[in-house]
Amino acid sequence: MSKNARVTPLISADDIARRVNDMANAIADSLPPDMMIVGLLRGSFVFAADLIRALHRTGVKPQIDFMTLASYGERTTSGGNVAINRDISESVAGRDVLIIDDILESGRTLTFARNLIVERGAKSVRIAVLLEKPGKRAVAIDADFTGFVIADQFVVGYGLDYANYYRELPFIGVVEAA
Ligand code: IMP
Ligand code: MG
Repeated sequence: MSKNARVTPLISADDIARRVNDMANAIADSLPPDMMIVGLLRGSFVFAADLIRALHRTGVKPQIDFMTLASYGERTTSGGNVAINRDISESVAGRDVLIIDDILESGRTLTFARNLIVERGAKSVRIAVLLEKPGKRAVAIDADFTGFVIADQFVVGYGLDYANYYRELPFIGVVEAA
């Protein structure tokens, strides 16, 4: 893979937009309007930006913060330990929290984030991910709201990167092996 490789579209911008709207409706139905949103950077920034605006149309008035997590492991499969590079500055104590991430793969990142927020006294913690790769879980964890289940392939775009490239693509695609 390289930054100049061809990217084959897998999920179009239109399909993402429709699904994000559906997810916002489902989230608004099961969480209170004053929920606190914690987006995991960097991968979730595009999804989070669209999802919060879709949530606005349902009457949700969330507070929003971000946390930058880094997992150490192989390059195109996530694994190993998770570290906080930048923490949230809001308190989650007593709050109904929605964690937003781009993709659930091994489950380590989201398990780490969920445990942290539970330990800090959140009233409830839910998880929304745009993508999920089944059969890759190293830790037993499920998302409460999932956009698309995809096959076991490395995808980029809509915030997801390869070597920090491709995040700007408005669709999800597969990078051709060069
Ligand atoms: P997990 O801890 O294995 O669930 O890791 C999830 C993280 O790995 C995501 O937040 C992404 O940053 C990264 N990741 C996993 N699969 C992909 C992929 O196909 N493309 C880009 N990033 C991915
Ligand atoms: Mg990520």
